[in-house]
Amino acid sequence: MEEKIPITFEDAEDSSRYGEMVLVKPGDTLLPIGYRRLASTFYNFEYRNDDICLITYPKSGTNWTAQILWGMTHINELQRATTQSVESRLFILDNDFLHDVSEKDYMERLRAKRPEAREEDGPVLQLAALEKGRRLLWSHLPFNLHNPNILDKCKVVYVMRHPKDNMFSRYMHFIKIEQATIQYMAENFMTGNVTYGSYWHHVNEAWKRRDHPNLHIMFYEDMKADIMAELKKLSQFLGTSLTEEQLKRVAELTSFNNMKDHPTMVVNIQGLQGSFLHKGEVGSSKGQLPPELDAQMDAWIKDNALRVDPAFRYLS
Ligand code: A3P
Repeated sequence: MEEKIPITFEDAEDSSRYGEMVLVKPGDTLLPIGYRRLASTFYNFEYRNDDICLITYPKSGTNWTAQILWGMTHINELQRATTQSVESRLFILDNDFLHDVSEKDYMERLRAKRPEAREEDGPVLQLAALEKGRRLLWSHLPFNLHNPNILDKCKVVYVMRHPKDNMFSRYMHFIKIEQATIQYMAENFMTGNVTYGSYWHHVNEAWKRRDHPNLHIMFYEDMKADIMAELKKLSQFLGTSLTEEQLKRVAELTSFNNMKDHPTMVVNIQGLQGSFLHKGEVGSSKGQLPPELDAQMDAWIKDNALRVDPAFRYLS
């Protein structure tokens, strides 16, 4: 019998744009319909004390941070990052409902370990559960859809990015797949009518947990300003005790240009390898929005920023 979880579902008003979607409550998180049957597995996922879990709202620098985390925990085998796919090195849990898993080799890998395994139970979730070694987990689900004990069990890294750049990055990603105007994308972004729902719900879920010793919040803007300083703080949080020279190697491995050159360092979505790497800059949205829309977004940010802690930076 399915265990009861404090999550409910509503039909999404307009599913046409992204395929069939479901509205997940509380939080009004819009997700692909495939999430529904896996919600309980996600919510009850057993985290372990040596796990490192990366949680982000999409387009905040997930791929970058994922490679950093992998590099820091695999310092003596960094060359693997340029030859083995990111999906084979990290558990991208949401792939179980985001993409057609049959396009990946997950089932092959899973059946080698568990011949009776079923695709509908989520191959990545099952592969992660079967993993004996230390796990690097990655998810875009907001905190309220994860096991409530996640922070008591393992270390979580959360990355935030300015909402306007975040929206623009999403726009640059999606115009490669489908037609969309910046106006349409921005309006949907502001109403939370995008995959993973409201930006504010997502960041607030992390921000309200910020004092937990197992949560490390990073800002994309800080990473761009001084990556070594951020790597040092991250290394301390993870307890990896890496030397300055080793951290420099991680920074070099995960530099924008290196990631752009190695498709193994970004997830491949719908054949668009490297599509996550547009400019990789702070302020990428500047001058890109029609003035009226720009002003509308500024007002939206100002209004919502009031509801989060004033210490939340990079909102203007
Ligand atoms: P842009 O679209 O502004 O270029 P995510 O991985 O969460 O989807 O985020 C994608 C954004 O992170 C993209 O932003 C991408 O360029 C940026 N990014 C990825 N790797 C990076 C790196 N090594 N340095 C700086 N930005 C990076």
